[in-house]
Amino acid sequence: MRSFQFYNPTRLIFGKGQLEALKTEVPKYGKKVLLVYGGGSIKRNGLYDRTLSILSDIGAEVHELSGVEPNPRLSTVHEGVEICKSKGIDLILAVGGGSVIDCAKAIAAGAKYDGDMWDFCKRTAMPQDALPLATVLTMAATGSEMNSGSVITNQDTQEKLGWGSPYVFPAFSILDPEHTYSVPLDQTVYGMVDMMSHVLEHYFHLDPNTPVQLGFCETLLRTVMEAAPKLIHDLENYELRETILYCGTMALNSMVSMGLAGDWATHNIEHAVSAVYDIPHGGGLAILFPNWMKHNLHVDVARFKRLAINVFEVNPEGKTDEEIALEGIEALRTFWTSIGAPSRLADYDIDDSQIDTMADKAMVFGPFGNFNKLQREDVVAIYKASL
Ligand code: NZQ
Ligand code: ZN
Repeated sequence: MRSFQFYNPTRLIFGKGQLEALKTEVPKYGKKVLLVYGGGSIKRNGLYDRTLSILSDIGAEVHELSGVEPNPRLSTVHEGVEICKSKGIDLILAVGGGSVIDCAKAIAAGAKYDGDMWDFCKRTAMPQDALPLATVLTMAATGSEMNSGSVITNQDTQEKLGWGSPYVFPAFSILDPEHTYSVPLDQTVYGMVDMMSHVLEHYFHLDPNTPVQLGFCETLLRTVMEAAPKLIHDLENYELRETILYCGTMALNSMVSMGLAGDWATHNIEHAVSAVYDIPHGGGLAILFPNWMKHNLHVDVARFKRLAINVFEVNPEGKTDEEIALEGIEALRTFWTSIGAPSRLADYDIDDSQIDTMADKAMVFGPFGNFNKLQREDVVAIYKASL
């Protein structure tokens, strides 16, 4: 393992009926709350009314920022920063999926910064402070509810960039599986692909002696793969929603990344696609990840072979290591397709016309990937294989 420090200050409040915890948690941070939410799903499923009712009971002064887009936009962040500064907000409460939470993180840091928070995305400045933020998660996918990362899209420049800061760990996050019942089938699938991809990003690392981390990863993958085919036919099954919600958080809250540097190239490659075409993140990952795997098979065939056998139950008898590894990659593709995920960029009507643009965007900070450093030609090859 490499040396590491583990720090995660988010209070995770998990289970049925836990929205009530707002009563005790919110007052710890003050009276003025900025409620941040998306395009209306929380109004349709009743969570908006229940949240406002609790906030009213505790005498909170509530301001609202609605309409946060999937792939949240910088312009919306600016609106939120303005509200925080003009109203003297004490706590930002994000009620939604990863996009709403990421937007809230950007607002939290932007509210304590004199310049434009886009500077954090461009790595020209680092947050020095942030307003407290908390979340009520409505969709299992990103892990943003218990990590310090955020991804923001700048529509003007067509860039989608991740950034992070310890200041934007949520102070608390409320996760009730019932809040995820109304997530539609396609988003449920994208979420499961995303969390599996987070595990895979960790799984492919070069640091030696990480047996527990690899085992954690394999358990998470097997668990999602067991639950997913049942959940897609039974969207209001409490236990399945509970399992998937827990997996989503565990996949990206640093529990499986201690002592190793995961790869993360596929995420970078996907964000460049989303920046240009505004597609769902999980959909993009389902298309790209197996092709990243094939492209990087040579780096450590043994790791791919281990995945194939331990997660995809590939029978190794009479096969070379490479054949086993490739069968594992095909099994991943087959599994994602079987639950309804896309497999080609063409599924989103994306052709080869913007490959150069996307590659430029992916390369914005130079070659990337910790398992294998990708050059521009590697990125182009992965896009071409994904058409
Ligand atoms: O906007 P509303 O109306 O709320 O609808 C959303 C949205 O249309 C809907 N939804 C969410 N919860 C729902 C629901 N619909 C019905 N019932 C519910 N309970 O689902 C749609 C997608 O929501 P979104 O928040 O965009 O999905 P997700 O959680 O997958 O977040 C994706 C964003 O997170 C970034 C992605 O790049 C993308 O921008 N990521 C953030 C990460 C992080 N902060 O750690 C890591 C990830 O790798 C990822 O890059
Ligand atoms: Zn992701």
